[in-house]
Amino acid sequence: MHIKSNNLIRLMLLVLLATQISLASAGTGNQTTPEEPVETQSVFRTKPFLQNPIGGGITVSWFTHVPTHGWVEFGMDESLGTKMETLIAGQVVANVKQHKVRLNGLQPGQTYYYRVCSREVLTYGAYKKEFGEVAYSETYQFTLPDTKSPDFTAIIFNDLHQKKQTLQQLMTQLEGVNYDFVIYNGDCIDDPRSEDQVLNFLTFSNEQVNAAEKPVFYIRGNHEIRGAYSVEFNQLFDYVGGKTYGAFNWGDTRFVMLDCGEDKPDSHPVYYGLNSFEQLRNDQLDFLRHETKSKAFKKAAKRVLIHHIPLYGMDEKYYLPCAELWGETLNKGRFAVAINGHTHSSAYQEAESLGNAYPVAIGGGYSADNATVMVLSKTGNTLHLKMIGYDGTVLGDFYF
Ligand SMILES: [Fe+2]
Ligand SMILES: [Fe+2]
Repeated sequence: MHIKSNNLIRLMLLVLLATQISLASAGTGNQTTPEEPVETQSVFRTKPFLQNPIGGGITVSWFTHVPTHGWVEFGMDESLGTKMETLIAGQVVANVKQHKVRLNGLQPGQTYYYRVCSREVLTYGAYKKEFGEVAYSETYQFTLPDTKSPDFTAIIFNDLHQKKQTLQQLMTQLEGVNYDFVIYNGDCIDDPRSEDQVLNFLTFSNEQVNAAEKPVFYIRGNHEIRGAYSVEFNQLFDYVGGKTYGAFNWGDTRFVMLDCGEDKPDSHPVYYGLNSFEQLRNDQLDFLRHETKSKAFKKAAKRVLIHHIPLYGMDEKYYLPCAELWGETLNKGRFAVAINGHTHSSAYQEAESLGNAYPVAIGGGYSADNATVMVLSKTGNTLHLKMIGYDGTVLGDFYF
């Protein structure tokens, strides 16, 4: 009786052990090893995208589906080695879905490798925190601008109005163009209503231009400042100098970016008293006066002005306060060229043709008959602007 009882216990233990082994085997497929990052798609909502590669730094942004603790691992070769996360007032940013990490202290002209990492936060209690797996992106690379390297190539889009097909088609016309950075010159995202709507297009556009490796400058048009999400919209970006206008150097070329604001007066009933672009334009006059006297501006081999709404050649029935406010200061700036959008009709205005001291190139709209992309490149001391249409036709080829 005693022996039988022992056998029964042994049998029960064996059955229990077999069940545990079976359960563990079933779970093996879901387990991760350090060499095998999995389930990244369930964590990452977007790929990383680069912005603001100015002042020896660059900003890496990405979104996750779930709250995570995010950081960037980077280095001069693919072994990475350095880790950077974001701190706000003493706290590591965690338990969030939007991630923005600034890498500082980088060397100009140097190529860096990086990946973004997100550790899922399962519990973020006052006294207890629990974490899930770490998701890792692929390893990407970027190269910072160098004031000693005068050459660059930029691609510039305007007025895409969220037309994915147009962007895709224009990108096919850029095959073989090895660009260093990208500029969206306004009205690319239409009347932002929600984070979902904006991220849908932003994710697409960033993948199209490879924003994980090529930094992007986002300039607002009048359509980015309309809609329920238009205020929060600004938090998605890392503007140069923290403002929607500013200036930066790429090599020895100085770029000045302006924000023209809305295309109707602040007092227009459709704004319900919630706009104050008059103030923003006045602030930019102060900025321009300071900028055009700065050493960086004066020393630059070339100066490029870029803003959404043109200052010249517009029908007088439109509200156009910027030409009167900024015109005199800009005309003294010895700009090589100004690049605009907004009219949905590509054009080129010779210097001095309309009161403009510098030539003005205006990109087209979003449809097959008027969309354009511009390729701005500098070789040695020559700036070259090429305007390419939807079907690949070269609509303008200018040297400055
Ligand atoms: Fe537009
Ligand atoms: Fe516009």
